[in-house]
Amino acid sequence: MFKDKKIVLGVSGGIAVYKAVELLRLFVKAGADVSVVMTRNAQEFVTPLTFQTLSGNPVYSELFNLYQEKKIGHISLAENADLFVIAPATANVIGKVASGIADDLLTTTLMATKAPVLFAPAMNVHMYENPIYQRNENSLRQLGYHFIDPAYGELACGYSGQGKLPAPEAIFAAAQKLLAPQDLCGHTVLVTAGPTREELDPVRYISNYSSGKMGYAVARAARQRGAEVVLVSGPTFLPPPAGVKLVSVVSAKQMREQVLQAFSKATVVVKSAAVADYRPVSVSGHKLKKKDAEMFLSLEKNPDILAELGQIKQDRILVGFAAETQDLLKHAGEKLSKKNLDLIVANDITQSGAGFDVDTNVVKLLHADGKVEELPQLSKVEVAHQLLDRVVDMFAVAKPE
Ligand code: PMT
Repeated sequence: MFKDKKIVLGVSGGIAVYKAVELLRLFVKAGADVSVVMTRNAQEFVTPLTFQTLSGNPVYSELFNLYQEKKIGHISLAENADLFVIAPATANVIGKVASGIADDLLTTTLMATKAPVLFAPAMNVHMYENPIYQRNENSLRQLGYHFIDPAYGELACGYSGQGKLPAPEAIFAAAQKLLAPQDLCGHTVLVTAGPTREELDPVRYISNYSSGKMGYAVARAARQRGAEVVLVSGPTFLPPPAGVKLVSVVSAKQMREQVLQAFSKATVVVKSAAVADYRPVSVSGHKLKKKDAEMFLSLEKNPDILAELGQIKQDRILVGFAAETQDLLKHAGEKLSKKNLDLIVANDITQSGAGFDVDTNVVKLLHADGKVEELPQLSKVEVAHQLLDRVVDMFAVAKPE
């Protein structure tokens, strides 16, 4: 989504400037072309050289600098941008923009741009609560400027309260949302993620290596594209994506119950969970004791949730995942037709950078009409957007304009 997007990262003066460095790294890693504009005060905290080195672009700071003006010019910076992100945004910068003051490079480019602008304010809690600041923020919000609320916590000034710059990952996600097409508005996307755990006794269970990263990325991407999202998740260590309804489950049986409950409202279902196919026939109430003899476990089949949904899907779009170690296309293709899916995302988990507990994936998309698409190694967020692109295309075919 950020690939080749032109982002202007505006950095104004505050102790949180160091976090803008991390934010810049996230944008660059995602493929964005970032130009950094720093106020004079921001340069008191971190030097422009740090931002220049990491962005690979000159850092802009002076309105009347002949070299900088010749190189790009503040108006082209404003006109070429796909998105402006101001982090940290001080009360001063926000107040100036709200009052129409353009007296330095950052405020001038901000006034001249038609790109969406995201402010990430960071300041002392009393400044943040000050009615003058609140009035400025509200009037900018009403004009269509975007804000991510500051976080709560210990502030550099010694106070504690709301005013901290949010984590770079949170600002990154908010920026991602602004660039995402709002093509899933009006849809409810039901996503499953993570492993299931099948209890054996009070201290042991059968499970797998799923971290939930793939499914959480799908949930986050669907939300960013305007959908209502219900995320039915097995146990993971991941924070729930903002704006998503999280339903936590442990076993396959519980996942089935919750999925069936959410199914009636869903228009799209994406089942990326790694559901255990079997569970112990009996669960011991007490910790099983070691014995001298070998021990055998009796397992019984879990319900195949996706196959069940395939029988009752009507006009919903059903997307499955298949993690395979051999004959990827054959096995994934069989699951696609057997479970009556519209699309299956097949990951060959023998490849590095694919499958369980990594941030990237290498997948093939198998369509119900037999079409197969091979995607390069992508971040799981990118894979999520790619699969949602296909879902949106399917809706467009089903309901032509
Ligand atoms: O969570 P991560 O660490 O990010 O890893 C991501 C992933 C590898 C778990 C994910 O990309 C993935 O491939 N998930 C599917 C794992 C799998 O092998 O599923 P399966 O082949 O057992 O099942 C095929 C499909 O049926 C899946 O959509 C599954 O959710 C569904 N299923 C399976 C069994 C069952 N009892 N009920 C189901 O609904």
